[in-house]
Amino acid sequence: SASRTILGIESSCDDTAAALVRGSPTGAEILSNVVYGQTDAHAAFGGVVPEIAARAHAEKIDLAVKQCLSDAGLTIKDIDGIAITAGPGLIGGVLSGVMCAKGIAAATGLPLIGVNHLAGHALTPQLTDHIEFPYLMLLVSGGHCQFLLVEGPDRYTRLGGTIDDAPGEAFDKTARILGLPQPGGPSVEATAKTGDPKAIKLPRPLLNRDDCNMSFSGLKTAILRARDDLVAQHGGLRIGDRADLCASFQAAITDVLAHKTRRALAVARAKNPAVHTVAVAGGVAANSAIRAELQAICAETGTDFVAPPLALCTDNAAMIAFVGLHRLASGDIDDMSLSARPRWPL
Ligand code: KG4
Ligand code: ZN
Repeated sequence: SASRTILGIESSCDDTAAALVRGSPTGAEILSNVVYGQTDAHAAFGGVVPEIAARAHAEKIDLAVKQCLSDAGLTIKDIDGIAITAGPGLIGGVLSGVMCAKGIAAATGLPLIGVNHLAGHALTPQLTDHIEFPYLMLLVSGGHCQFLLVEGPDRYTRLGGTIDDAPGEAFDKTARILGLPQPGGPSVEATAKTGDPKAIKLPRPLLNRDDCNMSFSGLKTAILRARDDLVAQHGGLRIGDRADLCASFQAAITDVLAHKTRRALAVARAKNPAVHTVAVAGGVAANSAIRAELQAICAETGTDFVAPPLALCTDNAAMIAFVGLHRLASGDIDDMSLSARPRWPL
């Protein structure tokens, strides 16, 4: 099919991003990919503050668009369509992006495509590894945790997910409880390296349930209690306690994700026997213990394992542009009545 160039814009959480993707749904390349993170702006608050995020997006979004065009050596005249994350996400940020995209569309007459952020994550393995439908996607980030059976660019079945916190959120909260820096994932993983994963008994919620649902909020409570017990016994955390807490926490999360991935793979195959790939996305997919365990399950079940490069696992606009490429190819575009949606299940 025809080669097109799409401008993607993403501003649904704490990254202001713009990217250019060129090609067709079956063969696309990333021309440029700009991400302005906001970690420092939120660091003092121990989490993403919606008001601060919205302001930062509004300040940076035009700059991100200009930068991605100049990185690719293109101008707006070279673009065939504008893909914008229209949800789900923090409404202030999503609105910033939608207004920016509408502005460009109004000025240029280019097609406007409102993209579901989750579809962006779900299609990323096609952009990076050119894998074919159908596949099982495990999306694990700071805000999301779900299993999706992906059978086509517009055919997603949610097989299950967290009923409370996302794993990234649990990593971040554990880091806060133990006085480690944010984001918690990398600091907890690093601290866990010298710890004993069996040192502290932690719950594995919902493991005995036969579905694909997970729960992680009990883990942070258990970590809090374990820390307080250690402090009460020894008058403070001893050398090695933090490492043991982190290692035990990481082992519990890994166990739950691994067990439920095995389950989800069985459910996905029962629905569609052609499923032979498990793909991951989201910031938590960076965790090497979790990756290794998922890889082992795939090897054991004769399944391919695909993990896109980290920069494309986490929030970015290239994945949004790529969904735009699919949508433009099928003529599925929006108009100026496009609205921002804080909630938008796939
Ligand atoms: O996908 P992402 O960049 O943003 C969204 O949440 O949408 O994911 C960020 C999350 C944070 O909670 C962070 O702590 C977690 O991913 N994370 C990790 C690791 N690196 C980042 N969690 C576990 N291990 C890691 N190495
Ligand atoms: Zn995301």
